[in-house]
Amino acid sequence: MRPDGEAVLEVRGLVKHYPLTQGVLVRRQVGAVRAVDGVSFDLRRGETLGVVGESGCGKSTLGRLLVNLERPTAGEIRYRGEDITRLSGRALKAVRRNIQMVFQDPYTSLNPRMTVGDIIGEPYEIHPEAAPKGSRRQKVRELLEVVGLNPEHINRYPHQFSGGQRQRIGIARGLALRPEVIVADEPVSALDVSVQAQVVNLLERLQAAFDLSYVFIAHDLSVVRHISDRVAVMYLGRLAEVGTDAQIYEHPTHPYTQALLSAVPVPDPDARARRERILLLGDIPSPANPPSGCRFRTRCWKAQRKCAEEVPPLVVPERFRGTGGPAAHVSACHFAAEPGAPGDGEDAT
Ligand SMILES: Nc1ncnc2c1ncn2[C@@H]1O[C@H](COP(=O)(O)OP(=O)(O)OP(=O)(O)O)[C@@H](O)[C@H]1O
Ligand code: SF4
Ligand SMILES: [Mg+2]
Repeated sequence: MRPDGEAVLEVRGLVKHYPLTQGVLVRRQVGAVRAVDGVSFDLRRGETLGVVGESGCGKSTLGRLLVNLERPTAGEIRYRGEDITRLSGRALKAVRRNIQMVFQDPYTSLNPRMTVGDIIGEPYEIHPEAAPKGSRRQKVRELLEVVGLNPEHINRYPHQFSGGQRQRIGIARGLALRPEVIVADEPVSALDVSVQAQVVNLLERLQAAFDLSYVFIAHDLSVVRHISDRVAVMYLGRLAEVGTDAQIYEHPTHPYTQALLSAVPVPDPDARARRERILLLGDIPSPANPPSGCRFRTRCWKAQRKCAEEVPPLVVPERFRGTGGPAAHVSACHFAAEPGAPGDGEDAT
């Protein structure tokens, strides 16, 4: 893992709005679901960027945009310096080969009527240049082996495998075209805890072996910590805080991150005793009608007037600039502070 490497993806101002329509005969647009609403970050070569946030905050939409399954409403995704959101035809197909997705649910994302060999080899039908016809079977066998499955089972059907094995099949398919980037949308969320660790270990092993960069989407902060070099915390279509795992887990400065972390089980009893549990009140507002200013303000215990009036930019908070300390990472909060720090929330600037 080389988190200091060059950027393989550069995401700038990414927006995806889904129109809300009304009327039976004449459909007219009455608003929009702002699923992703101005997201910017870099994915560096060889790193794993964890993306976390509550249900509905836009994680899957972001994932689909990154792999070009959907077109953004606005913004850019640069791959090797080229904005891929405007590509079509052959150029788009060539890029798609290099950015692959692994889906959440191994039970529904695999076609039950196809053999495992056909499922894993399917990308070769779309990209025949990746493997000449005569070599495909052998390539699929190798992929089965790489993900820890028995190549002899190439003619079996998905229902003959366990949940964890099915996720390995999904991963093998994602690897078939030897991509540079894999976007994994909750790849272990549907699995038992014991199996989750095995699949996460497999993903880590594959990353080193194939020089992969990962965007790893999850709502469970503890799963993301194990695999991520950096973590991006998402709330209602926007990024709240981005940092290395040490910065985010040990020195979170955004109240939302602090609340999410307070819900993660801590094995160390001393640390547990020292920690305060923050209960988030209220529901997540509708992404069709997000709060003005800071989107988190309706649930934030530190909210002040400025929070309703000004959108907090995702930058290194002024008070931490130049300190070089672990709190000096980007956080979209007007009053960013480490939990329990003097002036936490009070010294409005
Ligand atoms: N095709 C679509 N049409 C309209 N609205 C959509 C569409 N896809 C997603 N949305 C809406 O966009 C918002 C973000 O959805 P998304 O699936 O990206 O969230 P998520 O963070 O992946 O949630 P979860 O953790 O439940 O998977 C939600 O309000 C959702 O209802
Ligand atoms: S900007 Fe205001 S409402 Fe938003 S997280 Fe910071 S303190 Fe809370
Ligand atoms: Mg999702």
